[in-house]
Parts: sequence; structure tokens; C-alpha cells
Amino acid sequence: MAFNIAIDGPAGAGKSTIAKLAAKELSYIYVDTGAMYRAMALYFLREGIASEDEEAISAACEQITVTLSNENGEQQVFLNGENVNGLIRTEEVGKITSAVSVYPKVREKLTQLQRELAHTTDLIMDGRDIGTCVLPEAQVKVYLTASVETRGKRRFLELQEKGEDCTLEKICEDIRLRDEQDMNRKISPLKQAEDAVLIDSSSMTIEEVVKQILELVHQKKCGKEIEK
Ligand code: DC
Repeated sequence: MAFNIAIDGPAGAGKSTIAKLAAKELSYIYVDTGAMYRAMALYFLREGIASEDEEAISAACEQITVTLSNENGEQQVFLNGENVNGLIRTEEVGKITSAVSVYPKVREKLTQLQRELAHTTDLIMDGRDIGTCVLPEAQVKVYLTASVETRGKRRFLELQEKGEDCTLEKICEDIRLRDEQDMNRKISPLKQAEDAVLIDSSSMTIEEVVKQILELVHQKKCGKEIEK
């Protein structure tokens, strides 16, 4: 049976950075489910379908195929065969993604694909609903969070490095809005699974968080009860 690690948490908590490093240490595949939702959102954006139009979005889901590949430890996401990795990381796509990921048709499509991947492969999967909905049987579950201010600062620095025009206030406001949307939607809202370990990374280094996750994996593999 494959060994699955689920990492959930709000936007900007550092899930992908940490999951990628831990996956490398363990020689596991890293699956970024946010990228899959972003690829679908990019399709709706390109087709000019409004994020409020559930009917059109549900119908368009039939036209979309999302696939993944792994190149040198980096996940590549394909939208109907086109590699869209370089196009999905903008704030605009992020906002639309959060809005359209509330719809059942969008979630059903990706949840099924995510489960198929996890069934046969040792992996670390990050997202919002992995421990609660996609992989409730995952051997290790982590809920990774940090304060809005910490997440905002991290995102601000990232965007500045990319040369994007933004202010810290606006980034924090967007993060609050995204938390609100992701945590309060009807289907698969972001929340900590009962058996997930809470890690607040606000005053931790990346290395410390990775170490704690590797320790949880070690405990589980040795048959020890995970300390929460
Ligand atoms: O992790 P991210 O910022 O790339 O995710 C973008 C959006 O996708 C997020 O705001 C909500 C949605 N998402 C989701 O609903 N379920 C997941 N498992 C992953 C992401």
C-alpha cells in the first residue's frame, strides 16, 4: 500500500516549499493540487466564462483534461496537453481559482484524479481538503498554518522578487478574502482534519518545519502513535 502524506493549510502558509523539500528527502512524489485547480481556472479565464456562472463552468468541465508529470522533482501541470506551469501563478488566476473551486463539478474531477495518483504512489499531496476529503486514510496528516501577517509578508517578498507591482496591505487583504472563501465554502472547506497535526510556521524556519514532518513520518513508520 502506498504511503501518503497530506498537507493542508491556507494560502501562503508555505505548504508547497515545505512539501517539496520533504518529498525530496523521502524520495516521494510531490503533488500540488492547487496547481490543478489553477489550471482549470485558467481554462475558464481564457474562455471568458465568469466565475459566478456555475452552469457554464460545470458544462466546461467536460472539455478539460488536467494531467501531471514530474520533471527533476518539479511538478508540471498540463491543461488539455499544454504545459501551463508558467501561466497559473498570478494573483488574478489565484483569485479566480478560489472562486471556482467551490463548484462540485470542478472538485469531483480533480478529487478523482488525486485519489488515483495516491493509490499507487508514495507521495506528499498539498491542498485544502487532502486530509479531510481526498485522502482521509493518509498515514500522516499535517495542518500547516501561519498568521495572516506572516503569510502576507512572505507573499509580498515573493511578488517583489518577480517584479510584480503590489502593496503589503493589498496582499494581506487578498489573503483574508481567500481564507474566508476557502474556509467557508459548502463542499470540502479548508479545515484541520481531526487526526492532523497542527504546525504553526509563523516563527519557525523552513528547515524546522520539514524536520518536524520527517519526524512524524518516522514515528508512523516505526509504528509509534503520532504525538499531536
Ligand atoms: O494552493 P493554491 O494557492 O495554489 O490554491 C489555489 C486555490 O485552489 C485555493 O484558493 C483554493 C483552491 N484549492 C482547493 O479548493 N482545494 C485544493 N485541494 C487545493 C486548492
